[in-house]
Amino acid sequence: MLTLATPDDWHVHLRDGEALRHVVAHTAAGFARAMVMPNLKPPVRTTQEAIQYRSRILAALPAGSQFQPLMTIYLTDSTEPDEINRAKASDVVFGVKYYPAGATYNSDAGVRRLNADMKVLARMEEVGMTLQVHGEVTDSSVDPFDREAVFIDTVLSDIVRRFPSLRIVFEHATTREAVQFVQDHPQLAATLTPQHLLLSRSAMFDRGIRPHLYCLPILKRESHRQALLAAATSGSPQFFLGTDSAPHAQSAKESACGCAGVYSAHAALPLYAEAFASVGRLDRLEGFASHFGADYYGLPRNTGTVTLTQEDWIVPEHYSLGTQPLVPFRAGETLAWRVTSVGETV
Ligand code: NCD
Ligand code: ZN
Repeated sequence: MLTLATPDDWHVHLRDGEALRHVVAHTAAGFARAMVMPNLKPPVRTTQEAIQYRSRILAALPAGSQFQPLMTIYLTDSTEPDEINRAKASDVVFGVKYYPAGATYNSDAGVRRLNADMKVLARMEEVGMTLQVHGEVTDSSVDPFDREAVFIDTVLSDIVRRFPSLRIVFEHATTREAVQFVQDHPQLAATLTPQHLLLSRSAMFDRGIRPHLYCLPILKRESHRQALLAAATSGSPQFFLGTDSAPHAQSAKESACGCAGVYSAHAALPLYAEAFASVGRLDRLEGFASHFGADYYGLPRNTGTVTLTQEDWIVPEHYSLGTQPLVPFRAGETLAWRVTSVGETV
């Protein structure tokens, strides 16, 4: 058994409408808080829209849940610097998400001309608002497995040089280059997903193509996975939990042009426990899952606890996404850890 302070998920996709009610229940069962990504259709672009989305999330929670959604807004070429001040003053918005246009699911409104956002980034640096980056270039001539490293060299290095005090979370880091870049810059941090800690790209091609393991950034080779796992289990407060749980209907994944996204909210903490146990570092799970993210964002640590027990359970083949089923990560497989108790959270 392992008891931890109640964890938070610093990067999750909860969607909207009918799907929201189904997926938020999983996240709220395991986490006290979660940083909710803004890539709805249309995206959440203003503090006002974030406040409205937050209300819909709260209304979709299971009765009695104390779960707190932490909201983000979506940086576009037309975001106004004053929007940053409104976001900062709101106590609802805790980050601004940077998607290069076209990088991933629902990112069409993302940033096309970085120059257009210089004033916004300057305002963020000034008021202490965190930039959350999807760190991939979208240039189709760049190999998909290289897009993160090229982003660091051609975009992120420049942002860090121009705005040396800007707080930046490198979301869902997947490469040794990203780990190194974060370690070299104390104002940066990174979230790490369960799938990138547990799997390398070979898993996507295990006896056939595995659409449910396709996410963005795409899984990388084994040496990168090992670099991520070393960072996660290092005890460094710059690396913390962010599932990037991203639900899509089964039919949208099992398609000639399948959507990117792995759904892990149903088993997030057991999956991270498996990764940490694989290198004998369960003692470092609490910092990663429950302390470092809150510390980075300047929010109080949770006071409740959760208990993980080493006990086999089989992940269901499907969960509901409302009108359609979704296939969760590790569907039909046995996991070795389960959450057996969730204590009071304040
Ligand atoms: C995310 C989604 O489906 O919203 N998909 C993914 O593969 N991670 C978008 C994202 O975070 O890139
Ligand atoms: Zn994401």
